[in-house]
Parts: sequence; C-alpha cells; structure tokens
Amino acid sequence: MAALYQQLCPVLFGDNAVGEMAKQIAEKGYKHVFICCDAGVRKAGIVKLVENALKEEGLAYSMYDEILPDTPDTVVDELAAKIAQTGADIILAVGGGSTMDAAKAAGVVLDNGDSIRKYMEENGNPGFVVKTPVYAIPTNAGTGSENTPMCVIHELSTDTKKVVLRPAELAVLDPKLTVSCPKSVTVYSGFDALSHAVEASTSVAPNPRDMLLALHAIRLIVNNLPIAMNEPENLEARTNLLFASNIAGIAFATMSVHIGHCFDHEAGVKFHMEHGHCCALSIPETLRIVAEDKPAEILQIADAMGVAIPEGTGAKEAADLVADRVRGLMRECGIKPLKDCGVSREDAIAIAQDALDHNWFHVMCPGDVSREKMEHYIAEIYDNYQ
Ligand SMILES: [Fe+2]
Repeated sequence: MAALYQQLCPVLFGDNAVGEMAKQIAEKGYKHVFICCDAGVRKAGIVKLVENALKEEGLAYSMYDEILPDTPDTVVDELAAKIAQTGADIILAVGGGSTMDAAKAAGVVLDNGDSIRKYMEENGNPGFVVKTPVYAIPTNAGTGSENTPMCVIHELSTDTKKVVLRPAELAVLDPKLTVSCPKSVTVYSGFDALSHAVEASTSVAPNPRDMLLALHAIRLIVNNLPIAMNEPENLEARTNLLFASNIAGIAFATMSVHIGHCFDHEAGVKFHMEHGHCCALSIPETLRIVAEDKPAEILQIADAMGVAIPEGTGAKEAADLVADRVRGLMRECGIKPLKDCGVSREDAIAIAQDALDHNWFHVMCPGDVSREKMEHYIAEIYDNYQ
C-alpha cells in the first residue's frame, strides 16, 4: 500500500533560533506579537530570552502567563479575547505541550469567533479559517506538539480531554531554552518522546521516512536522556533531545501512537499522574504486545537502543530484551512503579474499557485491542516493573 508522509509545519532549529525567528517576524512586517506562556516558564527566565530577541528587532509585544496544565476550554476562550484586545497579529507559544496547544487553539477562536468547544473534533469538527500565525517554541523536549496538528483541550462541562486540529505555522527549536528545564520535567518529557517514537514505529501505518525519524529519535533519547538529567547545562545532550522529540512528533503525526497512549491518557486523568510518567510505564509492555506482529521493527528498535539480539532469538524473546533495556533506563531515571503511586492493581486494570472508549487510536495498534487484551496489558505494566 502506498504511504503518505508529510510535515505539517517548517522547523527553525539550532543555536539562536529564537533570534532568527524575531528577525523573520520583523522582516514579514508583523506589528504586534502576543506571547503565551505559563508562570513557571516565565519565572525561570526562559521567556526573557524571547522578549530580548523581540526587543532587538524593535517588535512590540504583549503577554499572557497564566496557561494551566491540560488547558481548560474556558482559558482558551479567555486567552483569545485577551489577544483580540491587544490587536496582535502573530502569536508565540513559549512552553510545553499545554501552552502550545492552548495558543494554537486560541488562534482558532481569535480568527473565527465563538468558543473553542465549537471547533472540537468530538463536537462536530466544523471547518475554520487560519489568519493569525502561531509560532510554537518548545521549552522541553517531549510532546512534539510544535509539529503535530493536535490541540488537546480539557472540556470542563464533560470533564474530558478533547481535540482541535490546528498545526502551528512555524516550530522554533532553540536548545538553550531547554537547559533550565527541571530534572523531573526533563525525564518525563524524554519518556513521552520515547513512547511517541516506539508507538509510531510499531503502528499499523508505517512509512519509510517516518520510520527513519522514529528510530533515530529512539537512539538519541536513550543515549542523551541520562546525560541531560545529570548535567542539565549540557547543551549537546539538550540539543539531541530537542531534535529527538521534534522528529518523534513528526513521525507520530503521520504514523500515529496507539495502545500506549490509550493507557497514558486514561491513567493520567484517573490517577492524576504526569503524562510522561505514564508513558514510561507503558513503553516496555507496548514493545512486548506488538512483538509477534512487528518482529522486524523490534529488531530495528533493539539496534537503535544498542541491545544485542543473539541470532535465532524469537520475536517475543527479542522484545523482552528490549523491554528490559527500557526498564533499566526507567530505573536509572528514577521512574516510580505504578504500585508506588498509590494505585492498586485492581484499580489500574479497571480503566481498560475507558482507555479504549476514550481513545480511538487503539485501532492503530497491530492486532485487535479487546477489553481483555487491554486488561492484560495493564496487568503486565503493573506486575513487570516493581
Ligand atoms: Fe505523549
């Protein structure tokens, strides 16, 4: 079957990417920039680097620094109203996934009116126009949201996560913006990116270009995550992780995530756990559950992780060896088992049906994912990493 591969937005990558971006904004004649961020990113001094770059080009700007994790729909509407008041003609999202998603979504409301709820996929997904550009500037190496069309928004009236599909116009990856990323965020976002790459490379919709990206992302993450965790100022490790998270995002935007993210989203909501923490827990069992359908890909992932697979090893045994390598990385990075997060085995398994009902992309997993299969998968997550 022919495969389509694409990239939803261009990327400006590397040293002083933020300065180059400011120059381009000035050259394109934009008059007023609106910066979206959260209080933590602003306090860490990261936004200052962006402000300085804008000032250097003589650009006027306004700012909103109250983005919350898992952005509620009401905050998106409020943000759009604030941007409208300033008359800004370009939006910069400086932060992690929640900030990038909120800014992209606010752009939809700004350009089309009404509430963000109107534009959610699950609420009818009406078309909309895009007039105001959104530039996405990640401050951690994880979600890849700068290169995916997804804006995950928390709909308060139903207490569920819903999706608006709107990519950014430019991704700006400047590694120095990630050096002050705290240890726990570095680790969780690293495992989020690793799970994107592992799931994308084992989905039912592979294509040759994105396989290369996903496998290279895996190689970079396993080699650089421990370095960035122990030496936060190591710019080479930070650069490699930022690139890895970006290409993993590009890969999963086309090839898709699957069973792991069904668990990750549901466990995150039900047990109030960090997304990247859930991602770490699910990766070894994702590798094991796809082994028989994806034996060649398991060998490619093993190679990317530097795991030697003796000749003649069966697919399941090979996946076990790769899963062990990931568990070793999890221990090295201090990832807590599910049991140590106050979650009982029974409660964990009980989320299986909701994990499937709330996340359509289980269909991107090789082989049917029944409720029983999901329950077994969660039980293995619980039992095999203690
Ligand atoms: Fe993720």
